[in-house]
Amino acid sequence: MAAPAKKAKARSEDVYGGPMKAPNRAYMKAMGLSDSDLSRPIIGVGAAWSEAGPCNLHTLMLGRNAKSGVASKGGTARLFTTPLVIDGVAMGSEGMKYSLVSREIIANTVEMTLNAHGYDGFVGITGCDKTTPGMLMAIARLNIPSIVLYGGTTLNGSLLGKSITMQDVFEGIGAYVGNRMDAKRLKELEDSAIPTTGTCAGLYTANTMGMMAEVLGMALPGSSSPPAVDGLKIKYAEESGKASMQLLESGIRPRDILTYEAFENAITALMATGGSTNVVIHLLAIASEAGVNVTIDDFERISRKVPEIANMKPGGKHTMEDLNNVGGVPLIMKRLLDSGLLHGSVLTVTGRTLKQNMSSLHLNTYPNDVVSPKGKKPYHAHGGITILKGSLAPEGAVIKGAASEIARHAGPARVFDSEEDAFDAVANGGIRKNDVVVIRYEGPRGGPGMREMLAVTAAIVGRDLGKSVALITDGRFSGATRGMMVGHVTPEAYVGGPLAVVKEGDMIEIDVPRCRLNLLVPDKEIAARIKSWKRPRPKHSSGLLAQYSSLVSDASHGAVLRPAL
Ligand code: FES
Repeated sequence: MAAPAKKAKARSEDVYGGPMKAPNRAYMKAMGLSDSDLSRPIIGVGAAWSEAGPCNLHTLMLGRNAKSGVASKGGTARLFTTPLVIDGVAMGSEGMKYSLVSREIIANTVEMTLNAHGYDGFVGITGCDKTTPGMLMAIARLNIPSIVLYGGTTLNGSLLGKSITMQDVFEGIGAYVGNRMDAKRLKELEDSAIPTTGTCAGLYTANTMGMMAEVLGMALPGSSSPPAVDGLKIKYAEESGKASMQLLESGIRPRDILTYEAFENAITALMATGGSTNVVIHLLAIASEAGVNVTIDDFERISRKVPEIANMKPGGKHTMEDLNNVGGVPLIMKRLLDSGLLHGSVLTVTGRTLKQNMSSLHLNTYPNDVVSPKGKKPYHAHGGITILKGSLAPEGAVIKGAASEIARHAGPARVFDSEEDAFDAVANGGIRKNDVVVIRYEGPRGGPGMREMLAVTAAIVGRDLGKSVALITDGRFSGATRGMMVGHVTPEAYVGGPLAVVKEGDMIEIDVPRCRLNLLVPDKEIAARIKSWKRPRPKHSSGLLAQYSSLVSDASHGAVLRPAL
């Protein structure tokens, strides 16, 4: 094996090279590493792993496959894990406050491990919702040669011949409390919705972020859409390990790949597929780490020019497994590239451009109703996500218009200061047609942690109110949420945004085509209410959530942590 380029080993040489580092090497030798192993570039392989849920159960195995790939190219790999939160398990509880927090913990864990041990490069194996953005944030922050492999989706669930996902279980609760489903059927849904290891099946947050890694150019082409249990994942893990060594040799760093154009590509794919609203804050956060000036307005600009060409759950019919069966993420990218909607000249982890990657991929495409072909009518004329602004959200709010059957709504506010209170009202029949459910003090600082509201939104849909009730919050939504649900309202209530002064019965107007979210109260009256508003006491005065609340930025800036310098 050729001796590694000095530059490629600069970081690990600092920790393991020369006589003064004999103690450092002694620790490595205790694990069976030789002088020859330590003379090679050292790649950290980070697997977001936990038995807390099925999403990341297999990432350690994929990490070992990635290690083999590194070794086959003359490197030495060290495997480590990061913690994670399984959103579907934490959903609807206080535990969900840790979900967005976990994104920062994952990013910080990767930074800590790579920097503390002098690793030269990185392979990140991801899965559940916050793991892909967390790893991409660390990659953008550290800017050492790196690659991501998304662990992949679960297979579709099946009940009575119908394909189902966990979305059906959450919505089943609403149907159950509304006496539209019996306990036996709810149990059958629970038993059948998630049949294998892997992430939630629709184009919810995890699968959307997996797609984003590929479109951004940080994952191997075609690696994201195969399900977790597909043997191809093992191949992609090995190839990702090999690619990390090639990146090291060629000196390609993440910020060479994570350019403004790459983010425009990612936003385009997000809009074209009706992916998760959470991805808005994640892309903003990754861009912020990369030093790229992506703003919330970029999402709206791109949404207006990109049609929605994919028919994916929760707004549409299909799952990631279905998409994979007809060509996967490359099919979406090819379709967008052929329509002139992607920048083809951007660099990727293969060392080639996106366009070069696409032209060397052999796509087995079949006639399907998952992705509309070029020249055929798209599923929606505009992108799947709309950024709303107005007197209730001067700095922005987010709605997945593609997942709502109504585009406009005006109705009286029903105000709740927590998710639990709102859920109880929905479950007990306290919400009526035309209401606008307002859930506040659930933002990044006030929640803290911006909980996802899938339990409430699914209960609204399950109670058959999805077309007649809207919901507005400074919290977030699950990627599986559908209906007229507006989240990420900024500024949040806890910092004195207009959401804090909405009163029971105030009229609220949501107009998706005009991108408006207005509190129909005179401006003077809103200003007077804000003047006399008093911030509630913080919900946490010590521990992680209190630390997070004191450092986190607003949702329209990615809810990233800003050091108090
Ligand atoms: Fe992990 Fe849905 S709970 S992807």
